[in-house]
This record gives sequence, C-alpha cells and structure tokens, in this order.
Amino acid sequence: MTQRLLLLGTGGIATHHIEEFAAIPECEFVACADAVPGRAAAFAQKHGIPKAFAGLDEAIAWGEFDAAVNATPDGVHMETTLALLAAGKHVFCEKPLAQSYPDALRMVEAAEAAGLINMVNLTYRNSPALQKAREMVAGGDIGDLRHVSAEYLQSWLVGKYWGDWRTDEKWLWRLSKGHGSTGVLGDVGVHILDFATYCAGESMASLYADLAVFPKAEGDRIGDYRLDVNDSIVITGRMVSGALATVTATRYATGHANDLVLTLSGTRGAVRVETDGKISKLSACLGKDVDENRWREIETPPLKRNARRFADALISGRTGDPSFRRAAEIQKLIDAAFESGEKGGPVKIG
Ligand SMILES: NC(=O)c1ccc[n+]([C@@H]2O[C@H](COP(=O)([O-])OP(=O)(O)OC[C@H]3O[C@@H](n4cnc5c(N)ncnc54)[C@H](O)[C@@H]3O)[C@@H](O)[C@H]2O)c1
Repeated sequence: MTQRLLLLGTGGIATHHIEEFAAIPECEFVACADAVPGRAAAFAQKHGIPKAFAGLDEAIAWGEFDAAVNATPDGVHMETTLALLAAGKHVFCEKPLAQSYPDALRMVEAAEAAGLINMVNLTYRNSPALQKAREMVAGGDIGDLRHVSAEYLQSWLVGKYWGDWRTDEKWLWRLSKGHGSTGVLGDVGVHILDFATYCAGESMASLYADLAVFPKAEGDRIGDYRLDVNDSIVITGRMVSGALATVTATRYATGHANDLVLTLSGTRGAVRVETDGKISKLSACLGKDVDENRWREIETPPLKRNARRFADALISGRTGDPSFRRAAEIQKLIDAAFESGEKGGPVKIG
C-alpha cells in the first residue's frame, strides 16, 4: 500500500526530500503545506504534488495522509510535530529535533505514547563510510577508544559559495535567536555530535564548550535579524569510556563548503571518515600499518538511506534509527554545551 506523505515546509531542504523520496516507490507526496501564502502552491505545481495548503491546520483538517516530513525551521519543529502526532500522523522530522532536551523529550513521549513512527533526518547517517567505520569500531578493530576528533567545517560567513548570508533569508534566520536558530551548534553541531558518538558507539560523560559569536554587521543586526547566535564552537569532552574528544563546528572554515572529518583513535589503530554529504571516504590505519603510520582507503558497501529507512519503518510499523529518542540524546549534549558556554566550565551529562 502506498504511504501518503505530507511535506510540511516548502523551503530549501524540501527539494532534497522530493529527490530522496522519488527513489522510494512505496511513498508518494500527496500534499505540501507552508505558512507563507502561495509558497506551497508554487512548490506543488513545480513538483507535481496534487494538493497544497496554506498551513498545517488546513492540511490536518483535510487529513488524507499517513505521515509527514517536517521540513519547517528549527523553532517550529516542536509545535508542528506535536500537532501532527495528535492527529495520528507518523513524522520524519528535520534536525535539530527541538531546541532543548525537555522539548525533545516531550516529542519523544508524545510519539511513543501514540505508537507512531518517529525519525529524524540526521543526513550524515547516509554516509556508507560512517556506517562501516561504526561496524569496525564495534568489532574491536581499533582496540580501546582513546581519542575522538570531529570537525564540521562550513565557510558561508566568509565566502559566497552558497549565496550571500547578508541578503539571503535562508542564511539570515540561521544567525538569529529571534528567528528560531540556536547557531552553528544547533544547526550542524547536532550532525557532528551524532556522527561522532554514533561512530564511537558511546556518548559523552562530560564536556566543556566554548561558543563564539563574532562581529559581522553594524550593530550586530541586519534588518529584522539580530545576529546573536554562535558562529563557531569548540567542545572538549570525555567519552563514557574515558576517551578524550574534541568537536568543532564552524561557519568560518575558509575553503570548506560543507565537510565533516572524524577520526577515532584507539589502542590498536584508527579510522577516519570524511564526507561532504555527497561523497564519503573511509580510511584506516590498522595492524602492521600502525608501525608505518600508513593509512589505507577502505571500500564501503551501499546502504539504506534515511528516507528508505523511514519508508521501511512505516511499512513494518517499527521506528527506525535515528529515532526521536536518539535525537533527544544529542539534544542533551547540545544543552550541556550551552550550559558550559554560559558558566565557562565543564558540565556532566546526566
Ligand atoms: N538534514 C540536513 O542536512 C538539513 C539541511 C538543511 C536544513 N535542514 C533543516 O531543515 C529545516 C528547514 O530548513 P530550510 O533550509 O529548508 O529552511 P527554509 O527557511 O528554507 O524553509 C522552511 C520553510 O518552512 C516554512 N514554515 C515556517 N513555519 C511554518 C509552519 N508553522 N508551518 C508550515 N510551514 C512553515 C517557511 O515558510 C519555509 O518555506 C531546518 O530545521 C533545518 O535545520 C536540515
């Protein structure tokens, strides 16, 4: 039976969802909705979606869909997802799931209590290199974990590769608390924290975070947008096993459009995952290569992408990974990083 999908929010990332679900014959976008008048209608026309609504309430009142892809801005995820769950709809939500751990937990509890499928689009789970590296680490290939080094590198505050942040609303909202952003930490810190802890197979026990808001415009404002969220963050932490971790996320990494680099080093070897979201590469220094400091590239098998796994979850009735609960665990790390940044000291993860 075809899974009927609603696409909520028809901005930048919506096109990515059209492309991802186009490869999944069991799913079909039957409608889209957006809060900006006319935007959903134009999107529907462009992508051949039969129905368009001027907001979620209208879409829910119509009701003829099984699940929603929630592609609204960060600050809107909770209220819209709770409304969808209350209407009995499964949800595939964009990241970050919420803006705080308590909010994320509300969403977890609502979804689980209703018995609805709940997953989050942590896109870099689509990296075959990440999945293979996780398998190798879990299989003991690198021995006991000693060091995690993770970086998420973007440069859109320096160059115009993705457009001009000064004039493009798609970037401006990401710089402003009042527009629902929690900065680079909430925007892509969520990805790199998931990437690192998923690959390591363990979370952090404590962390210290330094969050920087750099001066960018006169009066730290452009039009309605106060530029008040973190642009670059560095986290140092202890993994649960005692390994040390450094996690960086920045919008000032000149020469990097969108690069994730993760190295896990253990007592017997190391693995490195690199991805720009399209291509991913796994290399390892293992066995005899350890004494030569030689890295070899490792082949990675294809994998099921998030959208495919969401479709599988709808069909099987069992939530897949990353679930709301997993995303809430990452939110816990983000909250701890904000707490640490405010108090200027380390924070234990509860
Ligand atoms: N997984 C990824 O790698 C990835 C990449 C980019 C963006 N995202 C996430 O996707 C989400 C959307 O980002 P974007 O870049 O598409 O933003 P965007 O601003 O381009 O699009 C968001 C759309 O949602 C609409 N909207 C706002 N409030 C709404 C509401 N209450 N009901 C219906 N529509 C509403 C807006 O009008 C807009 O058209 C964000 O949470 C972002 O973090 C994820």
